[in-house]
Amino acid sequence: MLVKTEEIEDIPKDIRTGKKIISIYGLGFVGTAITAVWLRAGATVIAADKNNKIVNSINYKKIANTEPKANEAFIEAVNNKRLFATRNIKLASKKSQIKIISVPVGIKNDVADLSNVHSVINDIISNLKINDIIIVTPTVPIGTSNQLIRIIESKTKMKVNKDFFYIYSPERIAIGQAVSDIENNYPAIISGAGKKSVKIARKIFEMISSKTPIVMTSTKAAEAEKLIEGLYRDVNIALANQIAILCEKEGVNIWEIRNAANSQPFSNIHKAGIGVGGYCIPIYPRLLLQTAKNKGINLNLASISREINEAMPAHCVNRILTEIKQRNRKNKATILGLSFRGNIPDKRMSPTYDVVNELLANNIKVTIHDPFFKRDSLLPKSVKITNNLKKAVRNADIIIVATNHNQYNKLNDEFFIKNSRIKPIVFDGRGILDKKKFTNIKLITIGN
Ligand SMILES: NC(=O)c1ccc[n+]([C@@H]2O[C@H](COP(=O)([O-])OP(=O)(O)OC[C@H]3O[C@@H](n4cnc5c(N)ncnc54)[C@H](O)[C@@H]3O)[C@@H](O)[C@H]2O)c1
Repeated sequence: MLVKTEEIEDIPKDIRTGKKIISIYGLGFVGTAITAVWLRAGATVIAADKNNKIVNSINYKKIANTEPKANEAFIEAVNNKRLFATRNIKLASKKSQIKIISVPVGIKNDVADLSNVHSVINDIISNLKINDIIIVTPTVPIGTSNQLIRIIESKTKMKVNKDFFYIYSPERIAIGQAVSDIENNYPAIISGAGKKSVKIARKIFEMISSKTPIVMTSTKAAEAEKLIEGLYRDVNIALANQIAILCEKEGVNIWEIRNAANSQPFSNIHKAGIGVGGYCIPIYPRLLLQTAKNKGINLNLASISREINEAMPAHCVNRILTEIKQRNRKNKATILGLSFRGNIPDKRMSPTYDVVNELLANNIKVTIHDPFFKRDSLLPKSVKITNNLKKAVRNADIIIVATNHNQYNKLNDEFFIKNSRIKPIVFDGRGILDKKKFTNIKLITIGN
């Protein structure tokens, strides 16, 4: 049965009236934001996640996520019976017409790990109905959508663009502002398997964003776009990091130079830092490298940039070690920040873990302060973690700023002299502290 143009036009109305139900697979950072946005647009949503805790937290309105605007949307929708969560992925597929996949893609031995996507796709297609719409959002290697479509077609004997529709739209959000990002900040990148899928994608994405979506000519182009956004960031951060090391040796200040250079409209020098973390920037270049390798292309700018960025935690610790080498005492370090980025509760692949390992390898005891985390099972047992900043710095003789949480911006030597037993040295791995406020305590800044 072919979908008629009028039926495509009716999609927004069908979503708002609950005639078309949306199921969302994977209620992590991204899935939570996508769900919130669809609830705010009036949709009825089935939230499907294999994690029982997440499912119960939604159904019992004890939602733990801190994404602005998400909690209110979830609670209102559960009260109005427009949202329910389940671990039963197949059931979610059976009861919905639009299926949005937002499970994570990892990396194993430098190759994309698509097992979560495959697992969800297999469950979805066990109950795929005529005219159902599948929307894939994780960042994937170029060509993944074409492979997924082939799998779906061969397992269901249904034809894409005729019996079911396939859309690829990579999510472009940043945690902490994700709902606003989808609704207002960036245009959606959309692509589909053929004209009808694209037309449906347009209708769907116009409902949730004030920005006109950017329609790509193929799913491959959309996949590449997202990967290249990440690569651009990684390469430019690597450039800033390498220049920072040069500036340290030359005794000039990268922050001063960066400000001056970026007054020129074609210059966009990124910020140097103690390391790059999160589930995006460190992974996407590797996914592109995998594609390049398969095509016999040497994408060495991507691999060199990764190497430079991965070496930054050790470089920063070495600078600190050089500084404290003359001291004749057992050193204790306090790291400020476990999150990989400021003001968000996300510690995935945080460079703080590498800083910890470097310090422990040099027999330095470690405490971590972070406003968002009180415990962390990934840290070695000897590492203490606290929310209390004064307590965290009390016994430290080395302070390392690893995350640009706003709470740290205003720190000064007065604070450390008052709250630390030993006058510590401070290493600013994010370039956020004001040198003028450190006249009595030694402040070392990355790239300076
Ligand atoms: N985090 C970001 O800022 C960001 C930004 C843009 C794009 N992305 C993309 O989105 C993807 C998802 O990221 P995230 O940050 O939401 O991940 P996440 O780890 O926070 O959440 C993933 C969720 O999926 C669930 N899940 C995993 N496998 C499942 C399965 N087989 N069936 C059902 N549920 C399953 C997990 O239980 C978890 O709740 C990433 O791989 C990335 O490609 C992430």
